[in-house]
Amino acid sequence: MNTIEAITTRRSIRRFANKSVDNDTIKEIVSAAAFAPSWKNTQTARYIAVTDSATKEKISAEMLPSFNAATVRSAPVLIAMVTKCGRCGYERDGSFTTKKEDRWQYFDAGIACQTFCLAAHELGLSTVILGIYDEDNLPEFLGLQKDEVLTALIALGYSETVPVAPKRKSVDELLRFI
Ligand SMILES: Cc1cc2nc3c(=O)[nH]c(=O)nc-3n(C[C@H](O)[C@H](O)[C@H](O)COP(=O)(O)O)c2cc1C
Repeated sequence: MNTIEAITTRRSIRRFANKSVDNDTIKEIVSAAAFAPSWKNTQTARYIAVTDSATKEKISAEMLPSFNAATVRSAPVLIAMVTKCGRCGYERDGSFTTKKEDRWQYFDAGIACQTFCLAAHELGLSTVILGIYDEDNLPEFLGLQKDEVLTALIALGYSETVPVAPKRKSVDELLRFI
């Protein structure tokens, strides 16, 4: 698959096949995602892979809205994307480099997230990024450390169907030259 094909054929999948994903495959995806660019190469993205079905069920039942719970129940793997705080956007002396302050950490998390999803796609797996979850209780349940924030969830698995791409804006709407 070439890069443009990977970008344009990746789809968010919310119903997965009843097929497990082995740990080596998850490691291979993370190994590719490690090459995502990051602020001063700080590499603040971390990944927690939830593969235990009882743990996934508890998260689905108690810490997700019903539409995302159905997705996570169907997926064999739930990835929690975690960011190490206090590094991205900072100078060595602890001051912020730009007026965006530490918001660069969410920029880096987004790049890492998409890189993860594209790597999974290349290996024949499907993903959907989930931004809506219980922000008060899920981080603690996952055992996040004090300097970590939960940036997003990714449901991961195999899909037998490929939905049509939701409509995209035209280049004329997206791009202007000055
Ligand atoms: C930051 C972010 C948060 C998202 N949160 C959710 C979510 O909570 N639940 C969901 O089903 N899809 C979620 N999505 C997936 C989008 O709905 C999806 O990417 C969009 O509709 C375009 O479809 P495509 O990914 O198939 O191109 C999220 C996507 C992003 C980038």
